[in-house]
Amino acid sequence: PTEISRIRNISKVEFGKWVLFPWYFSPYPEVFSQEDRIFLCEFCLSYYGDLKSFSRHREKCTLQHPPGNEIYRDDFVSFFEIDGRRQRTWCRNLCLVSKMFLDHKTLYYDVDPFLFYVMTTRDDRGCHLIGYFSKEKESTDGYNVACILTLPQYQRKGYGRLLIQFSYELSKIEGKLGSPEKPLSDLGLLSYRQYWSENIVDLLLGYSERDEKCTIEGIASHLAMTTQDVEHTLQALKMQVYHKGEHKIVVPEKLRQQREKSKLKQKRLIDPERIQWKPPV
Ligand code: COA
Ligand code: NA
Repeated sequence: PTEISRIRNISKVEFGKWVLFPWYFSPYPEVFSQEDRIFLCEFCLSYYGDLKSFSRHREKCTLQHPPGNEIYRDDFVSFFEIDGRRQRTWCRNLCLVSKMFLDHKTLYYDVDPFLFYVMTTRDDRGCHLIGYFSKEKESTDGYNVACILTLPQYQRKGYGRLLIQFSYELSKIEGKLGSPEKPLSDLGLLSYRQYWSENIVDLLLGYSERDEKCTIEGIASHLAMTTQDVEHTLQALKMQVYHKGEHKIVVPEKLRQQREKSKLKQKRLIDPERIQWKPPV
């Protein structure tokens, strides 16, 4: 627990067809910090300090996708649900991977209380990890995401948005309002703010002005967001006005135009109809 804030220890990681350059310390075995590169199996996420033992492993490893149920598939990505208790080693290995790109403390060993939602891209060799989020099986604080990561080689391409959308789609199915665990990293905050604004603006643009759903509670329940997150977003975007003794939610013209423009970039979305999932009992 005291080591987690230590300085970056791994210089280079071979991961499938990718080479990763870690940002932060991750508690891989201490001897690994002496290697100029380490090798990760992109499927079982086990780690090796030399090419020879890694190659031996690759000859034996039969895993071609994350070790759980595929709960979503479209022509672009798949999502798998993995139980931390049933797939302890795999989930610990995933946490080790993600710690390389996360500054604040995460749990590496106590994965039992978490489910992991892992997004992959498919080809003829298997399902390749793009990113994931973890979620407490029972969150007393109502969090719907604990950790969230897009691997660096896939960042800034809209995958984080898909992960965040997926987490809210699960909350909708559960009939709950969700919010990510705090504190968020800078990148996490940027991505959530963007997701929240886009979705609130889109929702409001679809409403007529006098629509009674146009309240903080209405928006929250429609998007499975907490009222607090809705309120913060509305404040940040200056979308709340007080007019003739009445509080109103409005979309400023500039925001409307911005949104129309960004929509032309046609981002991919999760199709909620394709989610094959029931809340775990
Ligand atoms: N700079 C500025 N804005 C950024 C950004 C960056 N580096 N990264 C994301 N954003 C904002 C943008 O508004 C972006 O939309 P745009 O590209 O249309 O402008 C929006 O977030 C969504 O970006 P997206 O490409 O979908 O996100 P991503 O796949 O890069 O994933 C994270 C976002 C947070 C998951 C990723 O940065 C990450 O894994 N970071 C390291 C781990 C971490 O900090 N996790 C969160 C804390 S638990
Ligand atoms: Na993007």
